[in-house]
This record gives sequence, C-alpha cells and structure tokens, in this order.
Amino acid sequence: MTPEERERRDFIGRATALLAASGLAGGMASRDADAAATPQRVVDRGAPAAASGTLRLGGDLEVARMGFGAMRLTGDGIWGEPRDAQACRAVLRRTLELGVNFIDTADSYGPAVSERLIAEALHPYPRGLVIATKGGLTRPGPNKWVPDCRPEHLRAALQGSLKRLKVSQVDLYQLHTADPKVPYEDSLGEVARLQQEGLIRHVGISNVNVEQLAKARAILKVVSVQNRYNVTDRGSEAVLQACEQAGIAFIPWGPLARMGAGAAANPALAALDAVAKQRGIERSQALLAWLLAKSKVMLPIPGTSRLEHLEENVAAANVRLDAAEMQRIG
Ligand SMILES: NC(=O)c1ccc[n+]([C@@H]2O[C@H](COP(=O)([O-])OP(=O)(O)OC[C@H]3O[C@@H](n4cnc5c(N)ncnc54)[C@H](OP(=O)(O)O)[C@@H]3O)[C@@H](O)[C@H]2O)c1
Repeated sequence: MTPEERERRDFIGRATALLAASGLAGGMASRDADAAATPQRVVDRGAPAAASGTLRLGGDLEVARMGFGAMRLTGDGIWGEPRDAQACRAVLRRTLELGVNFIDTADSYGPAVSERLIAEALHPYPRGLVIATKGGLTRPGPNKWVPDCRPEHLRAALQGSLKRLKVSQVDLYQLHTADPKVPYEDSLGEVARLQQEGLIRHVGISNVNVEQLAKARAILKVVSVQNRYNVTDRGSEAVLQACEQAGIAFIPWGPLARMGAGAAANPALAALDAVAKQRGIERSQALLAWLLAKSKVMLPIPGTSRLEHLEENVAAANVRLDAAEMQRIG
C-alpha cells in the first residue's frame, strides 16, 4: 500500500466514524447513489463549523455558513500544482472533519488542479457535502484571468468539471463572470440549458452588479451570488442587500481582506483589530465573525493551504460579535 493509499484509507475510517457518531446513517455512501432516497438534512450540528448557523442553497442543500474556498490549493498565481499536494489533500479532509460541508472551487483554479485535488482527497463524497464550481474564465498564465462565457466554452468547461470532480451533476454551478464580448443572456441561456439537461443542480453567478443579478433572475433561478466583499471592501453592499431581499446566498470572496498598501489607514479594520484584541482572537477570526454577523445570507469561503489556518478560520464560527461591536466596526 502506498503512503497515499494509506492516508486515504485512514481518512475514510475517521470520516466514517464521525458520520456514524453524528447519526447520519449511510456513512460514506456516494451522494450520487442515494441522493434521491435521502432527505437533504446535511449539516452535522455537533461539528465546529455548524456554530456559524446554516442556510439552504436552493431550498434543499443545507450548508454550514462557514464554507471553504479551494482556490489556494494550487501553485503561485493560482497556477499549476501546489508545492505540497499531500498537505492540500489533508486540508480538504480536515474541512469535512470540522463540519464544513460547502467547498468552492472553479475549473480555472490551476487550471483544473483544485477540482482534481478535491476528487483525489474526498471522492467518493460523503453524503451532505456540497461542491460548488464555476466556469467562464480561462487562464493564459499565472495570475492571468480571461473571460470566455461563450455558450460552447461554458458547455465544454462544465463537462471538464464533471469529469474532474467525478460527478454526474454539479451541486452549484456558478457563472464565474460576465464576458463583455458575449451578451450575458446568451451565457445564462446556456447555463439554463445545462441545468435542464440535469448536469447542474443549482445555479449561482459571480462578480455581478445589481442589474446583472436582476437580468439573471429573469432567465433562471439564481441561488447564490459570489462577489468580493469584506470589512475593507463594501463595493457589493447593494448586491448583498438584493440577495437578502430575494433570499439568495451571498458568498463573499476575499473574506480575509488581504491588505494592500493603505490598509493600515482603514478605520473599519482598525476598529475590528481593537475588537479582536479585546476578545483575544485573531484578526482573521474577527473578519469572518463580522461577515457572519453582517447578514443571515452570508456564506464566507476563507481559503487556505495550511491546517493551522483552517482550524483558526473554522473556530471563528463560534465567535458572535454583538450589536455594539458591529456598530463600532461599522
Ligand atoms: N468568484 C471569484 O471571482 C473569486 C475570486 C477569488 C477567490 N474566490 C473564491 O474565494 C475563496 C477565498 O478567496 P481568497 O483566497 O482570495 O481570499 P481569502 O480567503 O480572504 O484569503 C486567502 C489568503 O489568506 C491566507 N489565510 C487564510 N487563513 C488565514 C489565517 N487564519 N491567517 C492568516 N492568513 C490566512 C491564505 O494563505 P495560507 O494558504 O498561507 O493560509 C491565503 O493567502 C477562494 O478560495 C475561491 O474559492 C472567488
């Protein structure tokens, strides 16, 4: 048995025990096999991530509001293989042990690397795990992102994702962006067709404004929006409000507000740092707790390739900022 096979066997043993202990009958049975017969009650309420609360994507996929972003499980510039693939697989396995059941990825992360690692580490998927992927961006090189939302590209991209993730249907397929060269309706129309063909369970959109959200909702049922949003970047406040009104999940990317120049002068971040200090928690935890407190539809997906950061981030599910602290941060 290779070390990788041993690692995998040990993980399956641990996860099976965890699921049995949580009362979720069926253990590691593939969700593909038994989804129809199984009620969609999926969050292990005793696990750390569940302290963040839950929401139902599309009404039937219950997820803990503390998710995980798998973009960082690649090489530098979100390009190529990660330095330590075994460590990345261990991070993915630990997310499940901590009760995280929403993992966000995209065909463009690597490209293909993040999706492949998810399948390597977690397939056959435990019942209840919700994997969200995206299509619509291509990668000519490290740190380069070029939209391609032509219908034919989206179809090919989804087929690649299904193959790499080893599923017959993607739980949540997100149109990664709007392509200025392609009418948004045409891209969404193809996504709607792919959903009608049964290849997509629920549809999300990403990097949109309020008008694009309205346009999308006129074409298909949108269950989530993924935009950049954090304490220091409130550019999507109006979109968040629109999601709240419509009962759509809002998935803030960049939740940890990775700071560029001028960050030190950000008054909200300074106030958040003061709150974190008072409570004796890390800044990253206060950033995530702020998001969770900000809105009931918020589903943060902090990304990391390090186990210690994963543990720290999920522990933020337990931090409840009160009204006075929220007001202080603004
Ligand atoms: N829709 C879109 O266009 C879009 C764009 C970007 C990202 N996303 C999604 O959003 C997810 C999150 O976005 P993101 O990765 O850009 O931002 P993020 O989660 O805010 O930040 C990730 C960075 O923070 C570090 N980090 C994580 N936990 C930490 C902790 N506890 N303490 C200190 N540093 C920590 C990570 O490095 P280490 O690995 O060293 O921990 C990584 O460099 C991605 O994984 C992806 O799924 C979507």
